[in-house]
Amino acid sequence: MFKAPRGTFDILPSEQQYWRYIENKAIHLCNIYGYKRIDTPVFEEGGLFTRTIGQGTDIVEKETYTFEDRGKSLMTLRPEGTAPVCRAYIEHGMHTLPQPVKLYYFSSIFRYERPQSGRYREHHQFGYEAIGESDPALDAEVIDMAWQLYSSLGINGLSLQLNSIGCRECRPKYLELLKKYYSGQLSSVCNDCKIRYEKNPLRLLDCKQASCQPISGAAPRNSDYLCADCASHFASLQKYLGILEIPFNINHRLVRGLDYYTRTVFEVQPKEEGAQSTIGGGGRYDGLIGELGGQPTPAVGLATGIERIVLNLKRQNVAVPPVPQPQVFVAFVGEAARLKSKEIVTQLRRAGVSTEQALGNKSLKAQFRHANALGAKFTLLLGDDELRQGIAILRDMSTSEQRPVPQDKLVSEINRL
Ligand code: HAM
Repeated sequence: MFKAPRGTFDILPSEQQYWRYIENKAIHLCNIYGYKRIDTPVFEEGGLFTRTIGQGTDIVEKETYTFEDRGKSLMTLRPEGTAPVCRAYIEHGMHTLPQPVKLYYFSSIFRYERPQSGRYREHHQFGYEAIGESDPALDAEVIDMAWQLYSSLGINGLSLQLNSIGCRECRPKYLELLKKYYSGQLSSVCNDCKIRYEKNPLRLLDCKQASCQPISGAAPRNSDYLCADCASHFASLQKYLGILEIPFNINHRLVRGLDYYTRTVFEVQPKEEGAQSTIGGGGRYDGLIGELGGQPTPAVGLATGIERIVLNLKRQNVAVPPVPQPQVFVAFVGEAARLKSKEIVTQLRRAGVSTEQALGNKSLKAQFRHANALGAKFTLLLGDDELRQGIAILRDMSTSEQRPVPQDKLVSEINRL
């Protein structure tokens, strides 16, 4: 027996109502905030991700699905959505469009992680990127849209974690300080942190090991060592969040799991849980497009895991609109009525009425049972008598009331109801 690969899952029809609910709200917000949809390939040249996400990150070191294709090119299944969107921005000369270019996507994302609740090897993100502008008002807009999404979905109790990790100018000086601080602590940190110290010191702050927490907690804070421009950017963002009435918590250890960020970084978390359950995250990445060979172009964006939104909707018992049930079920008795019922089913469907039909040779009782199981609002019944009189019996499935309706009035009557 084949099963879905470990860490992947089927989104069954019974789950789809959650997914449609989220998608509809997200698209509605994108229209209001002026973001346009983009779809990029499921796989890209592997270098796109190693160049941008960064060597030394978990994603690049242990989580990518990379394969050599039949033409001997190294390809990687998309482990995140930002680099592909930036690649498309450069490739299609979007710098000639009015800036910022604001794009959104719904993408499947592949990371070879250890599967657990809310953590999969294939997950799905709703993400959006605003490219071509450094104004902190845009960072606030990106955060605001996510905040509006979660609240309009009915998810409560979220907290926004915020930090600024500086730019190319001020970060090297901060990293020196950080390394100096950690050099006195190396005998006490975990083995992974010893490697981080050499390869990617900013990641030291991100360590989840309990024994490293007091050390990272007492480390010098990046936001205390920002250059004047980064400091004023961060201060303005906080002012905008105040205007938007979005509460935030400055988290000095927040650095994010991808290396392309500059200045603003943020994550949205359910209050009762930690970083493992982050529902959405993002930040500014002013160096990424330049790194990919484009003109230096500032940008900011966010992505949110749809599975994690579904998890939170279920936890908080949010009632989501059900997927539509059929309006009409057409039942019949006898061969002549079988043909007529096909004609009526077709008329109703052509008129835009969702209609199911009886199939095979089931008893009338079994047909009614089926109509009930499908949740049909009405059943139309045809037999020899009804054919002779040019009518069908219309049954309201909730009240069991029945009455005859002329066959040529069925569509208008159903539409009226
Ligand atoms: P990320 O934090 O790696 O950011 O992922 C975004 C969201 O995807 C997470 O907050 C989480 O909800 C969800 N997620 C991540 N990994 C998994 C997983 N294994 N299983 C289920 N859900 C998961 C990015 O990917 C950036 N590209 C976000 C961004 C956009 N930054 C700027 N623009």
